Amino acid sequence: MTPGANRNCAGVVSVHKEEAMDWGMKNRMQRIFKEDGKTVMLAVDHGYFLGPVSRLEEPRKTIEPLIPYADSLMLTRGVLRNCIDPKYNIPLVLRVSGGNSIMSKDLSNEGITVSFEDAIRLNVAAVALSIYIGTDHEHQTLINLTKLIDESQKYGIPVLAVTAVGKELEKRDTRYLSLSCRIAAELGAHIVKTYYCEDFEKVIKSCPVPIVIAGGPKLKNELDALKMAYEAVAQGAKGVDMGRNIWQSRWPVAMISAIRSIVHEKASLKKANNLFNSLKNGAHP
Ligand code: 5RP
Repeated sequence: MTPGANRNCAGVVSVHKEEAMDWGMKNRMQRIFKEDGKTVMLAVDHGYFLGPVSRLEEPRKTIEPLIPYADSLMLTRGVLRNCIDPKYNIPLVLRVSGGNSIMSKDLSNEGITVSFEDAIRLNVAAVALSIYIGTDHEHQTLINLTKLIDESQKYGIPVLAVTAVGKELEKRDTRYLSLSCRIAAELGAHIVKTYYCEDFEKVIKSCPVPIVIAGGPKLKNELDALKMAYEAVAQGAKGVDMGRNIWQSRWPVAMISAIRSIVHEKASLKKANNLFNSLKNGAHP
């Protein structure tokens, strides 16, 4: 037998290390995307550039009650180590890019902030990094992505690329987001997180890897956020990776439960909104 080769349980010889790694990659993807192929990721990584953002001032208080309703948590290693009990068996998507704050003029100047070794030590299901297409740091953030993907392929850990827009929220249009999502996928990202936009189906169709949507800044009312999630999933998103529109709601558990019904139970917008209203008025999820 070739040195280093292994015989699997069917007696088939596997020579390449990568073959064994692929199982890990698939397994981690399946931990994030449930049996229906969809996911409700809870994004709580905002502090990495926003600091103590409203309603996430005390991360443990905000996050813990929502854990039973989330399929995975997207967060930084600081919040993970200090505010999340290791008893939780929830897949973790670790934010590994950053390096500036909301005070900075240009949010796109991001680097990789966590070693792959530390991500592995934290037993993550995936790592997440932002890319900034069309900015002065486009090249830098895309090279960050490719470096991370090379590492991720070695260890079988998926990479989620966030098509970030910084302070320029008006950038969130079909052309810009299709371009960003496609480039992320071409460079090897395994999951793409982007914003919902008009003609979202076009963004979905031209991106060969699963897309999840961010919620963006808190919308005026919960129905608007539910509508966004509903439209996105109806047009092919594999779920959400949502933060502020869940935990900045006065009724975060009601909100995440209603989002779950859209993502996993194919609930109509009306049904999801009814669920939200009944939970907000005291019914138990
Ligand atoms: C910024 C991010 C955020 O930190 C966060 O994950 C976004 O979530 P939401 O917009 O739903 O609050 O990725 O680019």
